[in-house]
Amino acid sequence: MVRQEIEKLLNDSIKKLNIDAQASVSFSFLPAICDYQSNSVFSIAKKTNEKPIDLANKIVKNIEESSFFKFEVAPPAFINIKLTQEGFNHYANILLRDERCGVKKLSNQKVLLDYGGANVAKALHVGHLRSPIIGESLKRLYKFLGEEVISDVHLGDWGLQMGLTELQLYQDGVLDYYFGNAKEEPVITLEMLNEAYPKASAKKNVDEKFKKDADEWTLKIQEKQEPYYTIYKKIRNVSVVQIKKHYKELGAEFDLWYGESDCDEFIPKALKIIEEKGLSKESDGATIVDVAIEGENIPIEKKSPDEVQRYKNPMPPAILKKYNGGALYATTDIATIMMRNADFKNLNRIEYIVDLRQSLHFTQVFRVCKMAEISPKDQQLLHIGYGTMNGKDGKPFKTRAGDTVKLEDVINLLIEKASEKLESNKVEYDRDLALKIGVGAMKFGDLSNNVGKDYVFDLDKFLSFEGKTGPYIQYTVCRINSILNKAQSEECEIHIDSEEEKDIINKIFKLNSAYEVCYKEKSLNNLCLATYELASSFSTFYNNHKILTEQNKNRKQSMLSLLKLVKKALLQALNVLAIEVPEKM
Ligand code: ARG
Repeated sequence: MVRQEIEKLLNDSIKKLNIDAQASVSFSFLPAICDYQSNSVFSIAKKTNEKPIDLANKIVKNIEESSFFKFEVAPPAFINIKLTQEGFNHYANILLRDERCGVKKLSNQKVLLDYGGANVAKALHVGHLRSPIIGESLKRLYKFLGEEVISDVHLGDWGLQMGLTELQLYQDGVLDYYFGNAKEEPVITLEMLNEAYPKASAKKNVDEKFKKDADEWTLKIQEKQEPYYTIYKKIRNVSVVQIKKHYKELGAEFDLWYGESDCDEFIPKALKIIEEKGLSKESDGATIVDVAIEGENIPIEKKSPDEVQRYKNPMPPAILKKYNGGALYATTDIATIMMRNADFKNLNRIEYIVDLRQSLHFTQVFRVCKMAEISPKDQQLLHIGYGTMNGKDGKPFKTRAGDTVKLEDVINLLIEKASEKLESNKVEYDRDLALKIGVGAMKFGDLSNNVGKDYVFDLDKFLSFEGKTGPYIQYTVCRINSILNKAQSEECEIHIDSEEEKDIINKIFKLNSAYEVCYKEKSLNNLCLATYELASSFSTFYNNHKILTEQNKNRKQSMLSLLKLVKKALLQALNVLAIEVPEKM
């Protein structure tokens, strides 16, 4: 709001000088000197063939008088802008009165967000942590900025792992009842699944027959043959209970609890369209679609005739049907796009928050959908690929024994470590409280990094109550709450009275502009940083001013109003980050 108003004043002046150019304004790089700055004069002076400093002076001289801003030229030709006392008071109270704290809506698009993506029958592991964290936050960001968002968990429930798990349970004698070989129906438990899948997955790599049989079982499930399909549904239910529990603990909420299996009726429809458009062909019994574009699959010259052909910029074809007719990952994703467009009209974007390492898969899926017009021309299909969560050794986070870490173990670790922290702060053990702090720490630690980058999972750092961490922000809000509870605050305007207070207002404007930056970058790191900077400015203010013991009533009430404003801005940001604030800590 402020930045745009300053920009307007500058540009009005430039227009008055009959110069055809636009100046832009940014937050100050030297906050001790000014609040905002413009570096545009240098490029404009090139156009008008003037000495930059002369032009800067002319522009500043021509700016319409404003009681809110002071413009100054700083050599060689910067324009520095400071808010006046009146300006700070004016904007602080606008922020205080506005229920969105001054953040404007900026889009009304309709978006479907695909995140979560847990796999049925497999235990959730640490690799499934980033998608619900980033996805939930992007969903809230988009909604906050005015978009209509539909979230779908898109469970992995139609692939080979189903056949593998069932076959293993069958071989272990668990499923005899369904094949008429036992009287009592078994209770399939999570423990059974957690054991069966890894066992089967290892076996398929060394036992060709087992792998082929698992393919057959998978196909029977996909064809809804009995008893395979009934058993599948039982396994799915057991798994989904656990998945729901974990997503709830992580604070991820979904509108749709669909899985790959739900697009089933669209698979033949999608394949038919693709075939009718002449896009698919047979290859070794499988159905494939060539998706390479110009500049891809350029043959690299072979040194000898029997050398395997290699390509520059390889782009393998999308495989839509296996040798036995079974559907694959790409098939369900394509059919799901068709289903989504049938279920929801006018989706502007479909976004996938999935590991960066799946980017080839999404390139293939998106290209098939565009070629076959399964996705309308103007619909954006986007893969927001996230980097890997590494251990302190810089390698993907594993247990000491080198196994993948189960999500359950991560959540328990978060609770345990947060409890230790609370204990050292003399707060008695409370699982929910520890979960809020632990998960908050984890989320902030994750979201503080650019989505596409790998990062190090360092729980001790994430859980610190000081520095750029989730608990520090949570603690700041708790501290404000405690002051507001102790004081009797009344409705009162804010009168800015110190440099620390000015800094707080500037930090709120910076925070407000971070929403748009995050929206464009599809990454929350800017919001994390700006939230931290506001909390940190608040701490400085709090340490330098006595609030509860302030004798001047007006001054005290003004400071309390400022606290309310800071709290509102922090809570608004934490809500987008999907980080809850505990009552105490
Ligand atoms: N289940 C997949 C996995 O674990 C993730 C699903 C992502 N979403 C999608 N539409 N492909 O890798």
